Amino acid sequence: MLLGCDSVPLEEGRIIQTQSGESIFRPQSESQIAAGAVIFQRDCAQCHGVNGEGDPEWRKRDVDGMFPPPPLNGTGHAWHHPTNFLQDRIKNGSGPQGKMPAQGGKLNTAEVDAVIAWFQAQWPDELYGVWYEIEQRALKR
Ligand code: HEC
Repeated sequence: MLLGCDSVPLEEGRIIQTQSGESIFRPQSESQIAAGAVIFQRDCAQCHGVNGEGDPEWRKRDVDGMFPPPPLNGTGHAWHHPTNFLQDRIKNGSGPQGKMPAQGGKLNTAEVDAVIAWFQAQWPDELYGVWYEIEQRALKR
């Protein structure tokens, strides 16, 4: 493991370019992603699909008026949402307007972050760059 000057492990990842040409650091911790994969397969895949592909009909409301599980692998719109929204949705679910069950009783914050790291690892760099800009705007608010 690489250690920084304060013996803090340097985050694994790499530099990518956003569409506006900015160079950003894209963190990709293999151990966090591996932990997230286990959680995803155990707690999420039954609804969101083993690869996070979601329900093919995710854009259409069910007979009960609610949406089926959307993709998380980058083909849906999870990348429109900053980290705090994703964490909140996973911990607290969608509430009465949707069918995403709250996972906060089962998963601690590190586990929620690991599962986010897993599905974000499925996103191509281009999409990650778009998400990063959304994230930066959300952090300034
Ligand atoms: C019982 C099925 C079910 C399980 C289990 C489930 N989800 Fe969901 N999830 C849904 C549904 C349905 C929605 C859409 C809710 C809505 O319309 O508001 C959703 C929405 C989401 C969203 C918002 C996506 C977006 O594009 O707005 C995220 C993020 C998410 N789920 C992550 C997870 C994670 C991570 C897990 C496992 C820890 C998980 N879900 C487990 C059914 C499920």
